[in-house]
Amino acid sequence: MLAVYAARQDPDDPLAGLEVEPLPEPEVPAGWTTVTVRAASLNHHDLWSLRGVGLPAERLPMILGCDAAGLDEDGNEVVVHGVVASDAWRGDETLDPKRSLLSEKHPGTFAERVAIPRQNLVAKPPELSFEHAACLPTAWLTAYRMLFTRAEATPGSTVLVQGAGGGVATAAIVLGAAAGVRVWATSRSEEKRARALELGAEQAFEPGVRLPERVDAVIETVGQATWAHSLRALKPGGAIVVSGATSGDAPPAELTRTFFLQLRVLGSTMGTRDELARLVQLCAAGSVTPVIDRTMPLADARDGFAAMVAGDLFGKVVFTV
Ligand SMILES: NC(=O)c1ccc[n+]([C@@H]2O[C@H](COP(=O)([O-])OP(=O)(O)OC[C@H]3O[C@@H](n4cnc5c(N)ncnc54)[C@H](OP(=O)(O)O)[C@@H]3O)[C@@H](O)[C@H]2O)c1
Repeated sequence: MLAVYAARQDPDDPLAGLEVEPLPEPEVPAGWTTVTVRAASLNHHDLWSLRGVGLPAERLPMILGCDAAGLDEDGNEVVVHGVVASDAWRGDETLDPKRSLLSEKHPGTFAERVAIPRQNLVAKPPELSFEHAACLPTAWLTAYRMLFTRAEATPGSTVLVQGAGGGVATAAIVLGAAAGVRVWATSRSEEKRARALELGAEQAFEPGVRLPERVDAVIETVGQATWAHSLRALKPGGAIVVSGATSGDAPPAELTRTFFLQLRVLGSTMGTRDELARLVQLCAAGSVTPVIDRTMPLADARDGFAAMVAGDLFGKVVFTV
């Protein structure tokens, strides 16, 4: 079957180790099943794997991809929850210390077929296209949990989203606006700031500027480049929810500001299967639609990876199979 995989890793040139070639069908452990992939979406995680972050070299070659929508073995339309918990784990899968994401221990979704634990399948409503459904299990699920579970954003509260063009960031803007949250966004690009407003952000700013007032929460995935601004933007008692560090993970800690204003620093990773099921329902109801930058056949995946390396995206890259 055709697969997009990491054959080698290079911290400075991630595309050097990317291959698009046939690989054998996935092995299916007991209790697992296979999904015939119809669409899968690219995440920054796939670039980290190619750079050698989070994927040990001894696991290469590894099929990349954390998200997919497709058909189960009975022909039902499904969305794949990519968080694989250990067999004995019960409850919130994201808290299992032994959990992994598809493409970390088990082959990922950038292939014609993927093996997946049966309990990781969520029914795909017919209202949702395969392309839109494939955006949900990583970036959109992460944004959903950051906003609603971790930041506990409520209608009328103000949330700042850093790095508006990213997959998680566009999701946070759309989800927040749909929930009645006043969303402010930053982006380095004037064009992306304009697009953030079109998605429902109330205001958009250049990174680092003084905001009109302090916010209740910040959705942070950029990391080092925006961290100090995020902490300065918060009201006393406000929460910074962080799930990524694209620009580096050694920002100034701002300890004095953090304790003096009693700020809350909350980590967040992916989301549970139940959160994914609720997100799928929200999208099926028509109130939110995942933001797709571009769609291309899986065979052309290299072009999508290159656009992400260049930071030349607004929303998700979707591969169709
Ligand atoms: N923990 C989890 O479960 C989880 C889940 C999903 C993602 N993540 C992480 O979250 C991060 C974003 O993921 P993604 O898939 O949304 O990636 P993405 O689509 O590549 O988003 C990157 C965005 O970050 C901003 N950015 C990048 N470098 C920057 C810099 N030096 N200064 C300012 N802004 C910068 C850019 O926004 P502008 O161009 O608009 O300024 C860009 O659009 C990644 O690090 C990823 O690994 C974590």
